[in-house]
Amino acid sequence: MTLVLIGYMGSGKSTIGRKLSKILNYEFIDFDIYIENNIGMKIHEIFKTKGEVFFRKQERLSLGQVVKRKHAVIALGGGTPCYGDNLKLIKQEKQVVLIYLKSSINNLVDRLFDEKSGRPLISHLESKDELLEFIGKHLFERAPVYEQSDITIKTDGLSVDDVVKSILLQLF
Ligand code: S3P
Repeated sequence: MTLVLIGYMGSGKSTIGRKLSKILNYEFIDFDIYIENNIGMKIHEIFKTKGEVFFRKQERLSLGQVVKRKHAVIALGGGTPCYGDNLKLIKQEKQVVLIYLKSSINNLVDRLFDEKSGRPLISHLESKDELLEFIGKHLFERAPVYEQSDITIKTDGLSVDDVVKSILLQLF
């Protein structure tokens, strides 16, 4: 089995994924870091110097490399399942359980406002109101993709341990 975590930026994919992988004794792949290592640049540098189209192409190539892993937990980037044939590529792997970490817009704004500098899509937004409007529109476009997951966990009000427990209960 391989667990693939998806959801908007700031939904906790990396934190939850790392914890799950330890409990299950699975390999953990933080997909943004995997891409950074492949290219030898940080995500925000890739966007700045090569542009988003280049990033999305590299993201697709890297996804092809990791999606066949067995006994792994993979925390994807927020946009990964939303481009090209990426969702199809993930879902055609029979060993994959796709998990959506679903957070409300207000929670995402609170979490992302202080950490937007490393995230090129939102780093230019100056106020919480601007961030709220951006996420509202963006999530409206992306949610139909996220909703195609096998398991959806509503994370609002839950601790990291609660989310991990809830995923494990649905899996076993
Ligand atoms: C992106 C999310 C980021 C990263 C890149 C683009 C997106 O990952 O892949 O900045 O399109 O939502 P996180 O969700 O891990 O922040």
